[in-house]
Amino acid sequence: MKLWGGRFTKETNQLVHNFNESLSFDQKFYRQDIQGSIAHVKMLARQGILSREDEEAIINGLSGILDDIQEGRLAIGSGAEDIHSFVEETLTQRIGEAGKRLHTGRSRNDQVALDMKLYTRDQILELKELLHQLLKELLTIMEEHIDTFMPGFTHLQKAQPITLAHHVGAYFEMFSRDKSRLHDIWERMNYCPLGSGALAGTTYNLDRAYTAELLGFYGPTLNSMDSVADRDYLLELLSAMSIIAMHLSRFCEEIIIWNTNEYRFVEIDDSYSTGSSIMPQKKNPDIAELIRGKTGRVYGAMISLLTTMKGLPLAYNKDMQEDKELTFDAIDTVKGCIQLFTGMISTMTFRKDVMERSAKNGFTNATDAADYLVKHGVPFRDAHGIVGRLVLFCLDKGIALDDMTLEEFQAISPVFQEDIYEAISMKTCVEKRTTIGAPGQEAMKQVIQTYKKMLEEETGNDK
Ligand code: ARG
Repeated sequence: MKLWGGRFTKETNQLVHNFNESLSFDQKFYRQDIQGSIAHVKMLARQGILSREDEEAIINGLSGILDDIQEGRLAIGSGAEDIHSFVEETLTQRIGEAGKRLHTGRSRNDQVALDMKLYTRDQILELKELLHQLLKELLTIMEEHIDTFMPGFTHLQKAQPITLAHHVGAYFEMFSRDKSRLHDIWERMNYCPLGSGALAGTTYNLDRAYTAELLGFYGPTLNSMDSVADRDYLLELLSAMSIIAMHLSRFCEEIIIWNTNEYRFVEIDDSYSTGSSIMPQKKNPDIAELIRGKTGRVYGAMISLLTTMKGLPLAYNKDMQEDKELTFDAIDTVKGCIQLFTGMISTMTFRKDVMERSAKNGFTNATDAADYLVKHGVPFRDAHGIVGRLVLFCLDKGIALDDMTLEEFQAISPVFQEDIYEAISMKTCVEKRTTIGAPGQEAMKQVIQTYKKMLEEETGNDK
Protein backbone atom coordinates (compact mmCIF):
# COMPACT_ATOMS: atom_id res chain seq x y z
CA MET A 1 0.00 0.00 0.00
CA LYS A 2 1.25 3.48 -0.89
CA LEU A 3 1.32 6.22 1.71
CA TRP A 4 0.37 8.66 -1.04
CA GLY A 5 -2.01 6.63 -3.25
CA GLY A 6 -5.07 8.89 -2.82
CA ARG A 7 -4.20 11.40 -5.49
CA PHE A 8 -3.30 8.78 -8.08
CA THR A 9 -5.53 6.95 -10.51
CA LYS A 10 -2.95 4.61 -12.02
CA GLU A 11 -0.67 1.97 -10.60
CA THR A 12 3.04 2.81 -10.46
CA ASN A 13 5.04 1.29 -13.28
CA GLN A 14 7.09 -1.59 -11.86
CA LEU A 15 10.38 -0.17 -13.12
CA VAL A 16 9.51 3.14 -11.51
CA HIS A 17 8.86 1.38 -8.23
CA ASN A 18 12.16 -0.46 -8.44
CA PHE A 19 14.05 2.71 -9.28
CA ASN A 20 12.35 4.77 -6.59
CA GLU A 21 12.24 2.37 -3.67
CA SER A 22 14.68 2.63 -0.80
CA LEU A 23 13.46 -0.23 1.40
CA SER A 24 16.21 -2.49 0.12
CA PHE A 25 18.76 -0.30 1.89
CA ASP A 26 16.97 1.98 4.37
CA GLN A 27 15.80 -1.11 6.29
CA LYS A 28 19.22 -0.81 7.87
CA PHE A 29 17.78 1.79 10.24
CA TYR A 30 14.49 0.08 11.16
CA ARG A 31 15.46 0.35 14.81
CA GLN A 32 16.04 4.08 14.62
CA ASP A 33 12.81 4.55 12.62
CA ILE A 34 10.80 2.86 15.37
CA GLN A 35 12.72 4.69 18.10
CA GLY A 36 11.86 8.03 16.43
CA SER A 37 8.21 7.09 15.99
CA ILE A 38 7.86 6.14 19.64
CA ALA A 39 9.25 9.53 20.72
CA HIS A 40 6.94 11.30 18.25
CA VAL A 41 3.89 9.48 19.58
CA LYS A 42 4.78 10.17 23.20
CA MET A 43 5.01 13.84 22.38
CA LEU A 44 1.71 13.86 20.42
CA ALA A 45 -0.10 12.31 23.40
CA ARG A 46 1.54 14.65 25.88
CA GLN A 47 0.38 17.59 23.78
CA GLY A 48 -3.17 16.23 23.63
CA ILE A 49 -2.95 15.70 19.87
CA LEU A 50 -3.34 11.95 20.29
CA SER A 51 -5.34 10.07 22.92
CA ARG A 52 -3.54 8.10 25.61
CA GLU A 53 -5.22 4.90 24.34
CA ASP A 54 -3.90 5.45 20.84
CA GLU A 55 -0.48 6.25 22.28
CA GLU A 56 -0.43 2.97 24.19
CA ALA A 57 -1.66 0.93 21.24
CA ILE A 58 0.89 2.50 18.90
CA ILE A 59 3.83 2.13 21.27
CA ASN A 60 2.94 -1.50 22.00
CA GLY A 61 2.50 -2.14 18.31
CA LEU A 62 5.83 -0.53 17.42
CA SER A 63 7.67 -2.37 20.20
CA GLY A 64 6.17 -5.63 18.96
CA ILE A 65 7.34 -4.89 15.42
CA LEU A 66 10.83 -4.09 16.70
CA ASP A 67 11.02 -7.35 18.66
CA ASP A 68 9.68 -9.37 15.78
CA ILE A 69 12.19 -7.94 13.32
CA GLN A 70 15.05 -8.44 15.76
CA GLU A 71 14.02 -12.00 16.53
CA GLY A 72 13.60 -12.83 12.86
CA ARG A 73 9.85 -13.33 13.15
CA LEU A 74 9.03 -10.45 10.82
CA ALA A 75 10.80 -10.13 7.50
CA ILE A 76 11.13 -6.64 6.09
CA GLY A 77 9.63 -6.77 2.64
CA SER A 78 6.14 -6.71 1.21
CA GLY A 79 6.98 -4.35 -1.63
CA ALA A 80 6.80 -1.23 0.56
CA GLU A 81 8.53 1.85 -0.81
CA ASP A 82 10.73 2.51 2.19
CA ILE A 83 11.21 1.53 5.83
CA HIS A 84 8.88 4.32 6.98
CA SER A 85 6.02 2.94 4.86
CA PHE A 86 6.81 -0.61 5.90
CA VAL A 87 6.65 0.13 9.63
CA GLU A 88 3.48 2.21 9.35
CA GLU A 89 1.79 -0.33 7.13
CA THR A 90 2.68 -3.23 9.45
CA LEU A 91 1.53 -1.22 12.45
CA THR A 92 -1.85 -0.49 10.88
CA GLN A 93 -2.29 -4.13 9.90
CA ARG A 94 -1.62 -5.09 13.49
CA ILE A 95 -3.48 -2.44 15.52
CA GLY A 96 -5.94 -0.97 13.03
CA GLU A 97 -7.17 2.67 13.15
CA ALA A 98 -4.69 3.91 15.75
CA GLY A 99 -1.82 2.98 13.42
CA LYS A 100 -3.06 5.51 10.89
CA ARG A 101 -2.62 8.30 13.44
CA LEU A 102 1.11 7.71 13.87
CA HIS A 103 2.10 10.07 11.07
CA THR A 104 0.15 13.06 12.46
CA GLY A 105 2.30 16.20 12.33
CA ARG A 106 5.16 14.47 10.59
CA SER A 107 6.51 14.11 7.06
CA ARG A 108 8.81 11.47 5.72
CA ASN A 109 11.21 14.33 5.11
CA ASP A 110 11.77 15.10 8.77
CA GLN A 111 11.39 11.41 9.58
CA VAL A 112 14.19 10.32 7.25
CA ALA A 113 16.36 13.22 8.42
CA LEU A 114 15.85 11.99 11.98
CA ASP A 115 16.43 8.31 11.20
CA MET A 116 19.64 9.02 9.35
CA LYS A 117 20.90 11.21 12.18
CA LEU A 118 20.07 8.61 14.80
CA TYR A 119 21.77 5.92 12.74
CA THR A 120 24.82 8.11 12.11
CA ARG A 121 25.09 9.00 15.77
CA ASP A 122 25.17 5.32 16.74
CA GLN A 123 27.72 4.57 14.06
CA ILE A 124 29.98 7.42 15.16
CA LEU A 125 30.10 5.86 18.62
CA GLU A 126 30.95 2.47 17.13
CA LEU A 127 33.69 4.00 15.01
CA LYS A 128 35.10 5.78 18.05
CA GLU A 129 35.12 2.55 20.02
CA LEU A 130 37.01 0.77 17.22
CA LEU A 131 39.55 3.59 17.07
CA HIS A 132 39.88 3.37 20.82
CA GLN A 133 40.77 -0.33 20.55
CA LEU A 134 43.27 0.48 17.81
CA LEU A 135 44.88 3.21 19.94
CA LYS A 136 45.21 0.78 22.83
CA GLU A 137 46.96 -1.69 20.57
CA LEU A 138 49.31 1.00 19.25
CA LEU A 139 50.16 2.00 22.79
CA THR A 140 50.98 -1.61 23.71
CA ILE A 141 53.40 -1.79 20.77
CA MET A 142 54.94 1.54 21.76
CA GLU A 143 55.54 0.41 25.33
CA GLU A 144 57.27 -2.74 24.13
CA HIS A 145 59.48 -1.00 21.60
CA ILE A 146 60.86 2.05 23.29
CA ASP A 147 64.40 0.83 22.50
CA THR A 148 63.78 -0.98 19.24
CA PHE A 149 66.00 1.05 16.93
CA MET A 150 65.11 1.45 13.31
CA PRO A 151 65.85 3.86 10.49
CA GLY A 152 63.56 6.84 10.15
CA PHE A 153 63.04 7.69 6.48
CA THR A 154 62.63 10.73 4.30
CA HIS A 155 62.01 10.13 0.59
CA LEU A 156 61.98 6.45 1.56
CA GLN A 157 65.75 6.84 2.09
CA LYS A 158 67.23 6.08 5.45
CA ALA A 159 67.62 9.38 7.29
CA GLN A 160 68.11 9.27 11.05
CA PRO A 161 67.72 6.59 13.69
CA ILE A 162 64.42 6.45 15.54
CA THR A 163 62.65 3.77 17.53
CA LEU A 164 59.64 1.69 16.61
CA ALA A 165 57.78 3.31 19.51
CA HIS A 166 58.40 6.68 17.91
CA HIS A 167 57.23 5.55 14.49
CA VAL A 168 54.08 3.94 15.86
CA GLY A 169 53.54 7.02 18.02
CA ALA A 170 53.12 9.08 14.86
CA TYR A 171 50.11 6.92 14.00
CA PHE A 172 48.83 7.17 17.54
CA GLU A 173 48.67 10.93 16.98
CA MET A 174 46.83 10.51 13.66
CA PHE A 175 44.23 8.12 14.98
CA SER A 176 43.60 10.13 18.10
CA ARG A 177 42.96 13.19 15.94
CA ASP A 178 40.56 11.02 13.96
CA LYS A 179 38.77 10.07 17.11
CA SER A 180 38.44 13.66 18.23
CA ARG A 181 37.16 14.63 14.78
CA LEU A 182 34.36 12.09 15.21
CA HIS A 183 33.63 13.56 18.60
CA ASP A 184 33.34 17.06 17.07
CA ILE A 185 30.93 15.83 14.40
CA TRP A 186 28.73 14.20 17.02
CA GLU A 187 28.64 17.45 18.98
CA ARG A 188 27.74 19.55 15.96
CA MET A 189 25.10 17.26 14.52
CA ASN A 190 23.31 16.44 17.75
CA TYR A 191 20.18 18.57 17.14
CA CYS A 192 16.84 17.02 16.35
CA PRO A 193 15.10 17.66 13.01
CA LEU A 194 11.85 15.94 14.03
CA GLY A 195 8.92 18.33 13.88
CA SER A 196 10.22 20.17 10.84
CA GLY A 197 7.51 18.51 8.74
CA ALA A 198 7.92 18.46 4.99
CA LEU A 199 9.80 21.78 5.04
CA ALA A 200 7.74 24.45 6.81
CA GLY A 201 7.03 22.99 10.23
CA THR A 202 3.46 21.95 11.05
CA THR A 203 0.28 23.58 12.28
CA TYR A 204 0.07 21.18 15.24
CA ASN A 205 1.23 22.31 18.60
CA LEU A 206 4.27 20.01 18.64
CA ASP A 207 6.76 20.11 21.49
CA ARG A 208 10.00 19.73 19.59
CA ALA A 209 12.15 20.25 22.65
CA TYR A 210 10.48 17.25 24.25
CA THR A 211 11.09 14.85 21.35
CA ALA A 212 14.64 16.15 21.10
CA GLU A 213 15.15 15.37 24.76
CA LEU A 214 13.54 11.93 24.52
CA LEU A 215 15.93 11.03 21.72
CA GLY A 216 19.03 12.33 23.49
CA PHE A 217 19.60 15.42 21.33
CA TYR A 218 20.83 18.71 22.75
CA GLY A 219 17.70 20.40 21.42
CA PRO A 220 15.63 20.90 18.26
CA THR A 221 17.13 22.28 15.06
CA LEU A 222 16.18 25.89 14.46
CA ASN A 223 15.24 26.06 10.80
CA SER A 224 12.79 23.55 9.35
CA MET A 225 13.98 24.06 5.76
CA ASP A 226 17.58 23.37 6.67
CA SER A 227 16.54 20.46 8.90
CA VAL A 228 15.13 18.44 6.04
CA ALA A 229 17.79 19.51 3.53
CA ASP A 230 20.92 19.24 5.65
CA ARG A 231 23.34 16.43 4.92
CA ASP A 232 26.43 18.31 6.15
CA TYR A 233 26.91 15.91 9.03
CA LEU A 234 27.18 13.02 6.56
CA LEU A 235 29.72 14.92 4.51
CA GLU A 236 31.69 15.63 7.65
CA LEU A 237 31.56 11.97 8.60
CA LEU A 238 32.58 10.88 5.09
CA SER A 239 35.44 13.32 5.23
CA ALA A 240 36.54 12.12 8.68
CA MET A 241 36.29 8.53 7.46
CA SER A 242 38.30 9.38 4.35
CA ILE A 243 41.05 10.68 6.60
CA ILE A 244 40.87 7.53 8.75
CA ALA A 245 41.09 5.41 5.59
CA MET A 246 44.04 7.50 4.39
CA HIS A 247 45.87 6.99 7.69
CA LEU A 248 45.21 3.26 7.61
CA SER A 249 46.35 3.15 4.02
CA ARG A 250 49.64 4.91 4.77
CA PHE A 251 50.38 2.54 7.63
CA CYS A 252 49.43 -0.44 5.45
CA GLU A 253 51.78 0.77 2.74
CA GLU A 254 54.61 0.85 5.28
CA ILE A 255 53.72 -2.58 6.61
CA ILE A 256 53.69 -3.96 3.06
CA ILE A 257 57.17 -2.52 2.52
CA TRP A 258 58.42 -3.71 5.92
CA ASN A 259 57.04 -7.18 5.21
CA THR A 260 58.95 -7.62 1.94
CA ASN A 261 61.83 -10.09 1.70
CA GLU A 262 64.13 -7.11 1.16
CA TYR A 263 63.19 -5.32 4.40
CA ARG A 264 62.01 -8.10 6.72
CA PHE A 265 61.29 -5.55 9.49
CA VAL A 266 58.04 -7.33 10.28
CA GLU A 267 56.33 -10.57 9.61
CA ILE A 268 52.59 -10.54 9.19
CA ASP A 269 51.07 -13.49 11.02
CA ASP A 270 49.93 -16.49 8.98
CA SER A 271 46.39 -15.90 10.21
CA TYR A 272 46.41 -12.48 8.51
CA SER A 273 48.15 -13.52 5.28
CA THR A 274 47.19 -15.40 2.17
CA GLY A 275 49.03 -17.58 -0.32
CA SER A 276 49.42 -17.82 -4.07
CA SER A 277 47.66 -20.45 -6.15
CA ILE A 278 50.75 -20.95 -8.32
CA MET A 279 53.81 -19.84 -6.37
CA PRO A 280 54.24 -22.09 -3.32
CA GLN A 281 56.75 -19.79 -1.62
CA LYS A 282 54.41 -16.81 -1.45
CA LYS A 283 52.84 -15.32 1.64
CA ASN A 284 51.02 -12.20 0.65
CA PRO A 285 50.00 -9.16 2.70
CA ASP A 286 46.50 -9.17 1.20
CA ILE A 287 44.77 -7.67 4.20
CA ALA A 288 47.07 -4.66 4.26
CA GLU A 289 46.63 -4.26 0.50
CA LEU A 290 42.85 -4.52 0.72
CA ILE A 291 42.67 -1.92 3.44
CA ARG A 292 44.87 0.34 1.31
CA GLY A 293 42.65 -0.40 -1.67
CA LYS A 294 39.35 0.24 0.06
CA THR A 295 40.39 3.83 0.70
CA GLY A 296 39.25 4.55 -2.84
CA ARG A 297 35.66 3.55 -2.04
CA VAL A 298 35.54 5.81 0.95
CA TYR A 299 36.89 8.82 -0.96
CA GLY A 300 34.43 7.95 -3.72
CA ALA A 301 31.50 8.10 -1.32
CA MET A 302 32.51 11.54 -0.14
CA ILE A 303 32.89 12.90 -3.66
CA SER A 304 29.58 11.29 -4.67
CA LEU A 305 27.60 12.92 -1.93
CA LEU A 306 29.26 16.29 -2.39
CA THR A 307 28.34 16.10 -6.04
CA THR A 308 24.77 15.00 -5.32
CA MET A 309 24.24 17.90 -2.95
CA LYS A 310 25.87 20.67 -4.93
CA GLY A 311 22.97 21.78 -7.07
CA LEU A 312 20.01 21.03 -4.84
CA PRO A 313 17.54 23.83 -4.25
CA LEU A 314 15.92 23.96 -0.83
CA ALA A 315 14.39 22.01 0.69
CA TYR A 316 14.03 18.20 0.32
CA ASN A 317 14.72 16.63 -3.05
CA LYS A 318 14.67 12.95 -3.82
CA ASP A 319 18.32 13.14 -4.88
CA MET A 320 19.09 13.02 -1.19
CA GLN A 321 17.97 9.42 -1.00
CA GLU A 322 21.34 8.74 -2.62
CA ASP A 323 23.02 9.64 0.66
CA LYS A 324 22.24 6.24 2.14
CA GLU A 325 23.89 3.41 0.24
CA LEU A 326 27.17 5.23 -0.11
CA THR A 327 27.28 6.31 3.53
CA PHE A 328 26.35 2.84 4.75
CA ASP A 329 28.98 1.31 2.52
CA ALA A 330 31.64 3.76 3.67
CA ILE A 331 30.80 3.22 7.34
CA ASP A 332 30.83 -0.58 7.01
CA THR A 333 34.05 -0.43 5.01
CA VAL A 334 35.89 1.79 7.48
CA LYS A 335 34.66 -0.17 10.49
CA GLY A 336 35.86 -3.40 8.86
CA CYS A 337 39.22 -1.85 7.97
CA ILE A 338 39.91 -0.58 11.50
CA GLN A 339 38.98 -3.93 12.97
CA LEU A 340 41.10 -5.97 10.56
CA PHE A 341 44.01 -3.59 10.85
CA THR A 342 43.97 -3.83 14.65
CA GLY A 343 43.95 -7.61 14.42
CA MET A 344 46.75 -7.62 11.89
CA ILE A 345 49.14 -5.43 13.89
CA SER A 346 48.39 -7.16 17.18
CA THR A 347 49.53 -10.48 15.72
CA MET A 348 52.46 -9.11 13.71
CA THR A 349 56.10 -9.90 14.64
CA PHE A 350 58.53 -6.99 14.75
CA ARG A 351 62.13 -8.04 14.04
CA LYS A 352 64.18 -5.85 16.36
CA ASP A 353 67.54 -7.17 15.13
CA VAL A 354 66.77 -6.55 11.45
CA MET A 355 65.50 -3.06 12.14
CA GLU A 356 68.57 -2.10 14.15
CA ARG A 357 70.95 -3.54 11.58
CA SER A 358 69.16 -1.61 8.89
CA ALA A 359 69.53 1.64 10.83
CA LYS A 360 73.27 1.01 11.21
CA ASN A 361 73.85 0.10 7.60
CA GLY A 362 72.09 3.13 6.28
CA PHE A 363 74.35 5.85 7.72
CA THR A 364 71.45 7.11 9.85
CA ASN A 365 74.09 8.22 12.38
CA ALA A 366 75.88 10.46 9.87
CA THR A 367 74.29 13.61 11.30
CA ASP A 368 75.48 12.56 14.74
CA ALA A 369 79.03 12.07 13.45
CA ALA A 370 78.90 15.62 12.10
CA ASP A 371 77.53 16.89 15.41
CA TYR A 372 80.50 15.17 17.14
CA LEU A 373 82.90 17.21 15.05
CA VAL A 374 80.96 20.41 15.73
CA LYS A 375 81.24 19.78 19.46
CA HIS A 376 85.00 19.58 18.97
CA GLY A 377 85.14 22.99 17.33
CA VAL A 378 84.75 22.11 13.64
CA PRO A 379 82.30 24.45 11.79
CA PHE A 380 79.16 22.53 10.79
CA ARG A 381 79.67 23.06 7.06
CA ASP A 382 83.17 21.53 7.24
CA ALA A 383 81.89 18.72 9.46
CA HIS A 384 79.23 17.96 6.83
CA GLY A 385 81.96 17.65 4.21
CA ILE A 386 84.16 15.43 6.39
CA VAL A 387 81.33 13.03 7.17
CA GLY A 388 80.43 12.98 3.47
CA ARG A 389 83.94 11.66 2.84
CA LEU A 390 83.53 9.05 5.62
CA VAL A 391 80.32 7.87 3.91
CA LEU A 392 82.06 7.62 0.54
CA PHE A 393 84.83 5.59 2.14
CA CYS A 394 82.33 3.22 3.77
CA LEU A 395 80.26 2.84 0.60
CA ASP A 396 83.41 1.87 -1.23
CA LYS A 397 84.27 -0.77 1.37
CA GLY A 398 80.69 -1.86 1.95
CA ILE A 399 80.77 -1.14 5.69
CA ALA A 400 78.92 1.02 8.25
CA LEU A 401 80.42 4.07 9.99
CA ASP A 402 80.62 2.06 13.20
CA ASP A 403 82.83 -0.52 11.44
CA MET A 404 85.61 1.95 10.58
CA THR A 405 88.83 1.74 12.56
CA LEU A 406 89.97 4.78 14.51
CA GLU A 407 92.93 5.09 12.11
CA GLU A 408 90.55 5.24 9.20
CA PHE A 409 88.50 7.93 10.97
CA GLN A 410 91.62 9.93 11.78
CA ALA A 411 92.96 9.65 8.25
CA ILE A 412 89.96 11.71 7.19
CA SER A 413 89.93 14.02 10.24
CA PRO A 414 92.34 13.99 13.20
CA VAL A 415 89.58 15.40 15.41
CA PHE A 416 88.06 11.92 15.81
CA GLN A 417 88.97 10.13 19.03
CA GLU A 418 88.04 6.80 20.61
CA ASP A 419 84.76 8.25 21.93
CA ILE A 420 83.40 8.57 18.37
CA TYR A 421 82.05 5.00 18.61
CA GLU A 422 80.02 5.85 21.65
CA ALA A 423 78.84 9.09 20.02
CA ILE A 424 77.47 7.38 16.94
CA SER A 425 76.03 4.26 18.53
CA MET A 426 72.31 3.82 17.84
CA LYS A 427 71.61 4.06 21.52
CA THR A 428 73.38 7.40 21.89
CA CYS A 429 71.94 8.78 18.67
CA VAL A 430 68.41 8.10 19.85
CA GLU A 431 68.90 8.90 23.51
CA LYS A 432 70.40 12.30 22.78
CA ARG A 433 67.10 13.29 21.17
CA THR A 434 65.48 14.31 24.39
CA THR A 435 63.11 17.10 23.40
CA ILE A 436 59.44 16.30 23.76
CA GLY A 437 58.15 14.60 20.62
CA ALA A 438 61.58 13.11 19.83
CA PRO A 439 62.44 9.38 20.03
CA GLY A 440 64.76 9.61 23.08
CA GLN A 441 63.65 7.18 25.79
CA GLU A 442 62.88 9.77 28.44
CA ALA A 443 60.82 11.94 26.09
CA MET A 444 59.06 8.87 24.79
CA LYS A 445 58.19 7.63 28.26
CA GLN A 446 56.59 10.96 29.09
CA VAL A 447 54.51 10.88 25.92
CA ILE A 448 53.44 7.29 26.58
CA GLN A 449 52.27 8.32 30.04
CA THR A 450 50.20 11.11 28.53
CA TYR A 451 48.64 8.73 26.00
CA LYS A 452 47.90 6.21 28.71
CA LYS A 453 46.06 8.76 30.80
CA MET A 454 44.20 9.94 27.75
CA LEU A 455 42.95 6.43 26.97
CA GLU A 456 42.00 5.79 30.57
CA GLU A 457 40.02 9.00 30.81
CA GLU A 458 38.06 8.48 27.61
CA THR A 459 36.19 5.31 27.06
CA GLY A 460 35.81 4.41 23.43
CA ASN A 461 32.26 5.51 22.92
CA ASP A 462 31.87 8.34 25.35
CA LYS A 463 30.09 11.24 23.73
N1 ARG B 1 13.39 7.32 1.01
C1 ARG B 1 13.42 8.75 1.14
C2 ARG B 1 14.84 9.20 1.36
O1 ARG B 1 15.63 8.40 1.68
C3 ARG B 1 12.57 9.17 2.27
C4 ARG B 1 12.00 10.54 2.15
C5 ARG B 1 10.90 10.52 1.19
N2 ARG B 1 10.29 11.79 1.07
C6 ARG B 1 9.69 12.13 -0.06
N3 ARG B 1 9.16 13.27 -0.10
N4 ARG B 1 9.70 11.36 -1.10
O2 ARG B 1 15.19 10.34 1.17
